Amino acid sequence: MTTSLQITLIILTLLPGFDPSLETLDSLLQTGQAGSFDFAFIDADKTNYRHYYEKCLELLRPGGLMAIDNVIWGGAVADPQKTDLETVALRQLNQALHHDDRIELSMLPIADGLTLALKRSQAF
Ligand SMILES: C[S@@+](CC[C@H](N)C(=O)[O-])C[C@H]1O[C@@H](n2cnc3c(N)ncnc32)[C@H](O)[C@@H]1O
Repeated sequence: MTTSLQITLIILTLLPGFDPSLETLDSLLQTGQAGSFDFAFIDADKTNYRHYYEKCLELLRPGGLMAIDNVIWGGAVADPQKTDLETVALRQLNQALHHDDRIELSMLPIADGLTLALKRSQAF
């Protein structure tokens, strides 16, 4: 990583010896790292996505980018018959982000659905 382009990443996946994601994000916030990350990638347990989103948004600098995987979830998010916990959590997250003026939003219909959320310098 070059010194002129220092990128700080948050990649939420379970790595050997890594604390569960929520604890890890809380410890980053508790150690004063809010607003210091350039990029966050969320791809862990779906029922916690909303928590991961809120904590990652706090950790991102203004202009920072968040990528959230599996937001289409095989199409289940568009099927009201599908009421399992993961589908409901993803459906509710998609709806919440649609109305969130702290970000600029784009949901890409690639693979299993990838949302890009750019943190605005100020909410409108
Ligand atoms: C879809 S996989 C991630 C795949 C990875 N992003 C990749 O592209 O290779 C989801 C991962 O999240 C991890 N995971 C699930 N719940 C977690 C939690 N509460 N905290 C941390 N990691 C978690 C799982 O162990 C799994 O490795």
